[in-house]
Amino acid sequence: MAVFGGLLAVSALAGCGGSDGGAEGGGGDDGQIVLGFSQVGAESGWRTANTESIKASAAAAGIKLQFSDAQGKQENQISDIRGFITQKVDVIAFSPVVTSGWDAVLKEAKDAGIPVILTDRAVDSQDTSLYQSFIGSDFKVEGTKAGEWLVKEYEGKTGDVNIVELQGTTGSAPAIDRQTGFADAIKANPNLKIVKSQTGDFKRADGKTVMETFLQSVPKIDVLYAHNDDMGLGAIEAIKAAGKKPGQDIKIITVDAVKDGMTALAAGEINFIVECSPLLGDQLMETVKAVKDGKPVEKRILTKEGTFTQEEAKAALPTRKY
Ligand code: AHR
Repeated sequence: MAVFGGLLAVSALAGCGGSDGGAEGGGGDDGQIVLGFSQVGAESGWRTANTESIKASAAAAGIKLQFSDAQGKQENQISDIRGFITQKVDVIAFSPVVTSGWDAVLKEAKDAGIPVILTDRAVDSQDTSLYQSFIGSDFKVEGTKAGEWLVKEYEGKTGDVNIVELQGTTGSAPAIDRQTGFADAIKANPNLKIVKSQTGDFKRADGKTVMETFLQSVPKIDVLYAHNDDMGLGAIEAIKAAGKKPGQDIKIITVDAVKDGMTALAAGEINFIVECSPLLGDQLMETVKAVKDGKPVEKRILTKEGTFTQEEAKAALPTRKY
């Protein structure tokens, strides 16, 4: 496929939310594969680690990366993808901020003959021929693991357990699936009740402000389930400011297992973390190369991940990569 870039295409991308890697132009005659990647934004420690993984893996694989930061906006991602189509990149990859509303732009990429790979988050398009592969975690399983831990924690105990939930970005695959997986799992113990559930947009600052409102409106909070570490860490600040002890007065479960979260877990301020690996770069670059070579690729590439207790976090922290 012909590859070119140049200033026209680059400025189209720059206008739709922080693009880099494009200023040098989009490939040229050097035979390098050009990958256009539209990232969700920089909302969390997980996202920063994911961006670093993608950039490092592209450099190591000799793939020319046109990286664009959509600043959390779907409209920016749609413009990014249109910009990549105009540039005639070889492959487009993106991590969709929300699940819905992608069919039209994915069809444009398909009509232009540019393969698309989804990373991290899914789309709800019924026509799965619109993308080649989806690489990432099973967010529902993550929610289930969080719920199962809680069920075990309260096994044999009596009395209502009031749970507050900090959801991720509304309409995003991880927020939808982590909520469903958790809600299904805690049905095993009818004492476990979600009394408040609100979005904190996967951000630390929002986690803090939403937790402040939870603390004001719910007289007895036993458990916080946060869809990511960052919101959990923001909530910990609010819990401390309210004179309570995170991890003791309120049990805390989060998802991700980034270094800051693991540090709080090892310190006893979080009780359990479900891992979600941001290190998707190598799998993405392998898939990009295969797709470019016309080789078959798996439609769904699942990331391997575990869970961490406080003791496990202490052991894992010294060698934690992100
Ligand atoms: O899509 C993955 C989620 O997005 C991570 O769990 C969260 O931290 C990030 O913002």
